[in-house]
Amino acid sequence: MNIAVVGTGYVGLVTGTCLAESGANVICVDIDEEKVAKMKSGIVPIYEPHLDVLFERNIKAGRLHFTTDLKEAVEPAELIFLALPTPPGEDGSADLSYVLQVAKDLGGMIEDYKVVIDKSTVPVGTADKVHETLANELDKRFDRDDQNRPEFDVVSNPEFLREGFAVDDFMKPDRVVVGTSSDRARKLMDELYKPFVRQGNPVIFMDEKSAELTKYAANAFLATKITFMNEVANVCERVGANVDKVRIGIGSDERIGKRFLFPGIGYGGSCFPKDVQALAKSSKEADYDFRILDAVMDINQTQKTALVPRIKKYFGDSLKGKKLAMWGLAFKPDTDDIREAPSLYIIDELTKAGAEVIAYDPEAMDNVRGQIGDKIHYANDQYEALNDADALVICTEWQIFRSPDFTAIKNKLKEPVIFDGRNLYSLDSMEEKGFYYTSIGRQTVTNK
Ligand code: UDX
Repeated sequence: MNIAVVGTGYVGLVTGTCLAESGANVICVDIDEEKVAKMKSGIVPIYEPHLDVLFERNIKAGRLHFTTDLKEAVEPAELIFLALPTPPGEDGSADLSYVLQVAKDLGGMIEDYKVVIDKSTVPVGTADKVHETLANELDKRFDRDDQNRPEFDVVSNPEFLREGFAVDDFMKPDRVVVGTSSDRARKLMDELYKPFVRQGNPVIFMDEKSAELTKYAANAFLATKITFMNEVANVCERVGANVDKVRIGIGSDERIGKRFLFPGIGYGGSCFPKDVQALAKSSKEADYDFRILDAVMDINQTQKTALVPRIKKYFGDSLKGKKLAMWGLAFKPDTDDIREAPSLYIIDELTKAGAEVIAYDPEAMDNVRGQIGDKIHYANDQYEALNDADALVICTEWQIFRSPDFTAIKNKLKEPVIFDGRNLYSLDSMEEKGFYYTSIGRQTVTNK
């Protein structure tokens, strides 16, 4: 199969590389010349575990190519993936200008049958808009009854990739959702995804609008699930319960499920915040007030800085002269992504209150430096961050933070105080080791 992938951001690059791995011939196209040059020389422009191996193998095998020329990519392709940015506007609605511009360009150049596949997360009705935009451009080149006028279909095929697990999620998906009303496109999509659903997980076919909504509903549901647990955690703290126990207690019910029940300092990243906001917005546009989503957004915003009042309760409102070590900056482990990361909101409030922050993150420090520069200090490793600090604040559950050298932590900190936004340690071990330890949804260990 010949495939073009337009846009080599996170989704486009993972999609293109994984499709090449199944034997397809893939050309990825991007307007960023520097990025394309890098990729041609074998450099993966994003951090994603396991992607580099597949990337190199498929370039070597001659199945994965890069270009800045849309026509070069599109001409041989039967399937054209659109993996373009859809950034939220001020009001939370997705900006479709990149997607529609490429639809227009395609209408100006295609010569034979193409399936145009929306991979970006887009509002309900976008497949129709892409169809209309492309058809309008074709109208400029061909009469509607012209034999030479190429046919095309627009398919909605949302991605469900998690950062840090994207390769695995693509290669072994729980399900693939395909929205199309065309039999011809359906057959091609079925063939395309056959190698990826061999474990019996389904390719679920539906209409375009349902596919578009499925993506938003899935992410909004998961964000709501996390937020619900964060609310339970807040109640646990007040009534003397332990959210870890409650989590296991309710998660063992298969109807609830164990996953995505971990309380913490809120969800972040490029998907959940954007998708919850967009679904709330498009529901309002459809004259429906999706009230639970407003609550989810509101609660999550508060939750991101839930550690700050605890820090202030311990040290007093002014944090002048206080030095705080921070472990973890990325919005979650195994990524360098800091979009909507709770750490940034916490840093903002701590520095406003006069604290000095010295942070360590295994992957995200360059991105944070690029965004906030010298507002904080950056340590070379997790223990260096602790030198002379008054307390440790944990924002991301990287594996290396899970079983640290507690003696070193105690020796380096001025006082053995930990504020943990990710519940990494058991209360018993903290008590035994003599820490003051505050986490989410559990009682504070005071050692007094
Ligand atoms: C998410 C979806 O999982 C994926 O299907 C979609 O395509 C893109 O958005 P991602 O943003 O990469 O993926 O991260 P994910 O692992 O889902 O975590 C999202 C956020 O929820 C993180 O901030 C994480 O810390 C938080 N989270 C997750 C919790 O707070 N508790 C949990 O139990 C799970």
